[in-house]
Amino acid sequence: MARIDLSQLSPLAATPSDWLETVLADFDGFLMDHASAEKKASGMAMSMISHYPDQPSIVRAMVELAVEELNHYREVMRLILERQLTPTADLKDPYIHALNGQVRKAAEHFLLDRLSVAAVVERRGAERFAIIADSLQNEPSLQRFYQAIAASEQRHWELFINLAVEHFDESTVVERFNELSQCEAKIIKTLPLRAALH
Ligand SMILES: [Fe+2]
Ligand SMILES: [Fe+2]
Repeated sequence: MARIDLSQLSPLAATPSDWLETVLADFDGFLMDHASAEKKASGMAMSMISHYPDQPSIVRAMVELAVEELNHYREVMRLILERQLTPTADLKDPYIHALNGQVRKAAEHFLLDRLSVAAVVERRGAERFAIIADSLQNEPSLQRFYQAIAASEQRHWELFINLAVEHFDESTVVERFNELSQCEAKIIKTLPLRAALH
């Protein structure tokens, strides 16, 4: 697979410092949202396969990803059930909704935008799961879990950006990713803080 030089990409705007406090104040609520995010990530990978069944590079990467995200879902659901919480229905994620609104529907842009939005979302996930892991000094097994999740999401955003470079010019990918990253930074600033990944 082609590998992009990540230094061309705009740096991630840092998550507001009070996001972590909001999450830790309702960690059970956060776990519910986290489970939902993993399930949706797996579903998104499957929908990419349905949309591009004739693209081997996409099918190969997305089937692996769908399974990995479903494993994350299973692990988070185990934590939820161990805590004897009652799982709740998925809520709409306003962050994902806003970013999906940036996806251009025309066939020549759709794939680039889907891959770029996915890369932006996974990069944010990697940052936030690492923030959570760092805060869990007193819960070593939960800390290891979130460190592993953060490392996995880090691989995922690089996967999406590298898949984009397989299908489009590197300069086109860099430009679109950077536009969407700036847009994402604004979305983060405008959305209220919740005990949720986004
Ligand atoms: Fe995941
Ligand atoms: Fe992921």
